Amino acid sequence: MEKFVIRGGNPLRGEVTISGAKNAAVAIIAGTILSDEPCLLENVPEIRDINICVKILYEMGASIKIIDKNTIRVDPRGISDPTVPYELARACRASSYFLGTLLGRFRQADVPMPGGCDLGDRPIDQHLKAFNLLGARHSIDGGCVSLRADRLVGSQIYFDVVTVGGTINAIFAAVKADGLTVIENAAKEPQIVDVANFLNSMGADIMGAGTDVIKIRGVKYLKGVTYGIIPDPIEAGTYMVAAAATKGDVLIKNVIPKHLESITDKLRKAGAYVEEFDDSIHVRCSSRLMKTSFKTLVHPGFPTDMQPQLSTMLTTAEGTSVVTDNIFDNRFRYANELRRFGADITVEGTTAVIQGIEELSGATVKATDLRAGAALVIAGLMANGTTVVEDIYHIERGYENIDEKLRGLGADITRVTDFDNKRMAV
Ligand code: EPU
Repeated sequence: MEKFVIRGGNPLRGEVTISGAKNAAVAIIAGTILSDEPCLLENVPEIRDINICVKILYEMGASIKIIDKNTIRVDPRGISDPTVPYELARACRASSYFLGTLLGRFRQADVPMPGGCDLGDRPIDQHLKAFNLLGARHSIDGGCVSLRADRLVGSQIYFDVVTVGGTINAIFAAVKADGLTVIENAAKEPQIVDVANFLNSMGADIMGAGTDVIKIRGVKYLKGVTYGIIPDPIEAGTYMVAAAATKGDVLIKNVIPKHLESITDKLRKAGAYVEEFDDSIHVRCSSRLMKTSFKTLVHPGFPTDMQPQLSTMLTTAEGTSVVTDNIFDNRFRYANELRRFGADITVEGTTAVIQGIEELSGATVKATDLRAGAALVIAGLMANGTTVVEDIYHIERGYENIDEKLRGLGADITRVTDFDNKRMAV
């Protein structure tokens, strides 16, 4: 097992470059299945969830060429069996995207129920509702979702809850259906727009992505393209918060500032200085931050994926902050770990009350999920003394070279492989 050992207290200073967006890339990689020709994907982050999605394609028969660490060529034409292997599907949430893309191409899909971060109940009823409306039948047997359709026909889909995954899956299934599909109450996150841009560049006819009504007119053929993934707004936000939380001064490069507005707003309210440029953002802070209450919301509201990081920053802000996260019902599991740093955080249901203290002190903690793991790294950077963050495989699902990037900003962070575990593995 690998862990991070962090000696805290150094303000982060310098420049960091943001990688491609995990949540766009995982969907677009699955989306290559719909292409009738090979695709070249650029700015793909080198992270564990991407490796899993690429492996799923490979296991199903796609031909994959890794051009360099951030560029992948996918030729999906060799896929003959629309079945996702169990272990790979269980390893990430994004495996659910293979339901939509396999259904779109083969009119059938067999995909084990997706895994991913444990954030509470994560149903796929809205995905299934969309597939059913487009003409597919579904069954769930032994933990595996099976979809079958004689033909897919455009339909009116109204989502009962705003769902990122459901919206993308509905687009995937509709893009080669006959006729017009209208998705209402669609999610508006940046990755939805990126997926639609990717498909449109291949010849799809999708309008309205980024609004709550998306119209898709099915097409017969999608050509191969070279496509660059957008920068990761959550990775960018994580470095923005880390800069402010350590009273640092960081230029965060390769970002789309518009995607970061809700984070910028909260950091400014807390007292940090944030300046936006065309494709970079500068965050600095020199005095104690102030209490800031916030609620997570669907885009363009404050993202749930940034809640643990911002809440962690507020543990040393002056005053009491109240944080509500209603998107998932179990997104405060990291609060127990934060208390080990001395943080004063109490959780009641989906609301946390954070009473700012003067200083955190280093602790040994476990990453409970991806964003919680990033938050614990931030706590370690803020804290006085040494912190050990265990189970960092969660963090590596979504952050490319986080330790290297932080060292580039002056952090004292080392990756350590547990000697005993290493010996046992021999
Ligand atoms: N929901 C349903 N039924 C469904 C689908 C969703 O009730 O059929 C509910 C969920 O239970 C949740 C809410 O709708 O309460 C929102 O879920 P959504 O479907 O939007 O989330 P997701 O597609 O499973 C993606 C990201 C998450 C991110 C959420 C919200 C990927 C692979 N995952 O998940 O990212 O938190 O959208 O923005 O894109 C992360 O990157 O750390 C992460 C967890």
